[in-house]
Amino acid sequence: MSVRLTLAAEAGAFVPGGTVVLIGAPADLDLSLFGDADITVVQDRMPEAGVWQTRDVTVVRALPTAQYDLAIVWVPRAKAEAHDRIAQACAVADRVVIDGQKTDGIESLLKDMRRQVEVSGPISKAHGKLFWVTDAKFPDWHAKPAQIDGRWNVVPGVFSADGVDPGSALLASAFPDTLRGRVADLGAGWGYLSAVTLERCPKITQLDLVESHGAALDCAATNVADPRAQFHWADATTWGDAGTYDAVIMNPPFHSGRSTALDLGHAFVASAARLLRKKGVLWMVANRHLAYEQELRTHFRTGDTFTGDTKFKIFEARK
Ligand SMILES: C[S@@+](CC[C@H](N)C(=O)[O-])C[C@H]1O[C@@H](n2cnc3c(N)ncnc32)[C@H](O)[C@@H]1O
Repeated sequence: MSVRLTLAAEAGAFVPGGTVVLIGAPADLDLSLFGDADITVVQDRMPEAGVWQTRDVTVVRALPTAQYDLAIVWVPRAKAEAHDRIAQACAVADRVVIDGQKTDGIESLLKDMRRQVEVSGPISKAHGKLFWVTDAKFPDWHAKPAQIDGRWNVVPGVFSADGVDPGSALLASAFPDTLRGRVADLGAGWGYLSAVTLERCPKITQLDLVESHGAALDCAATNVADPRAQFHWADATTWGDAGTYDAVIMNPPFHSGRSTALDLGHAFVASAARLLRKKGVLWMVANRHLAYEQELRTHFRTGDTFTGDTKFKIFEARK
């Protein structure tokens, strides 16, 4: 929140100018507090990274190896990812400011940090906290790559980092192995659904994995070795050419922050309909309690459940 940053500047947490790296910064951040600073933004999520690319700053997906006068970290919800961001920031800058919402666990992070180093602040405002450290190092907080079932590479913060998502597993076994032609996986995550689909369906000629979270897509690139796979770091709700796909498979996201945001899932359904050719087919899984039927009927011939279990429902929808 800019209001905490403004208060932090007034409290001397940082001064305008110099070289500044903003890690995970929201795309609407007011940059006037930084004066004529040379600003680098690290943002590995779309569409935020796309918005930053339209502003007058350097935008990168991963933190460069350079040194900076100041690093500011916006804390993500996954604790291991937050630890990693802070460890990385402290490795490239002496002064590191950390900002986050209570709902994203900023208070427990502050406790974690105080156990190890001296922390200045905090500034508490607008349901969040901001604090800063100088010359701190957190070598144990760097993300450790992990593997699921001895096969799937994941990193902290990606969807379903602790195991294969049961909804994706159910979907991967539900559709016939006759899927063919050009297929898109919208919200492909670390690649489970795409990898299994390519193994099962020899008639697929190309599978486009579309994912907004750069770290997840990087994992997918290591998990899906099939040459028919293409990887796209993009917002699936606006990506791709209309009417060019034979099939779309997806386990759409339905959380935005902490709230259930069915709007995003509905936008995925609309995007699938846009991408599919005439007679193209959508295979989709959703949690049983989520209402997709009406949105499916708006864009497809039916919105009926094909199969499912007590937790998930699978839809087969044709244009
Ligand atoms: C429920 S997960 C499904 C992951 C994956 N298909 C699997 O097999 O486990 C939904 C995924 O959609 C991604 N996502 C969220 N919003 C997105 C957007 N606008 N465009 C593309 N991907 C998005 C999330 O990062 C997440 O990886």
